[in-house]
Amino acid sequence: MAVWYLMRGTGVVSLVLLTGVFALGIATRRRARIPTLPRFATLALHRSLSLLAVTFIAIHVVTALVDPYAAVVVVDLVVPFTASSQPLWIGLGALALDLVLALIVTGLLRRRIGRRAFRAVHWGAYAAWPLALVHAIGIGSDTATPWLRWVGVACVLVVAAGAAWRWGARPAQTTRASQSRTAPTTSVSPP
Ligand code: HEM
Repeated sequence: MAVWYLMRGTGVVSLVLLTGVFALGIATRRRARIPTLPRFATLALHRSLSLLAVTFIAIHVVTALVDPYAAVVVVDLVVPFTASSQPLWIGLGALALDLVLALIVTGLLRRRIGRRAFRAVHWGAYAAWPLALVHAIGIGSDTATPWLRWVGVACVLVVAAGAAWRWGARPAQTTRASQSRTAPTTSVSPP
């Protein structure tokens, strides 16, 4: 019973942390500062949150293995859609885990594989977030409860806000860039 609670709790915390990692990753890639946070702090937070997320995901999958009711075996953790029970929902979790593992491996081999390959895998790994979200909605015992629904809605809103901030601000940046190209000595105030 305690294992089951631990599995559910760490699943939810993992999802919340992945949401933070995803949103901060968007912010860092924009090469812009989050207001009140210098860029290096955004990056450091992104890395620390990723480490924490990996820790909670590890506990989540180990407890899934240990919990007799989850009926999950080691292969199901990494090979999607092989579980004997709820293969689709467990498979989406396994896919999310595979992407997170790819992220860890390429992060460790970053200098060897080169920046381009690292970034390709890094961006691919962001799919871990929607996969984990759908996995949680599909299989979670708490999905029907209002609190988990609100957690899910909050996660989606955080990511939507991050995306809106990133893509919404782009035209203004382009305009400023093109203005400074055509009139380098003129100072342009933001709209
Ligand atoms: C990035 C990876 C993952 C994340 C973020 C994640 C997140 C979650 C969340 C939020 C829940 C719902 C918990 C609740 O209802 O309170 C859940 C449930 C569950 N997850 Fe995962 N999961 C991940 C990967 C996996 C993997 C790889 C497996 C096993 C192969 C797995 C097995 C389960 C099981 C069996 C449940 C049902 C627990 C219950 O009875 O409610 N998860 N997961």
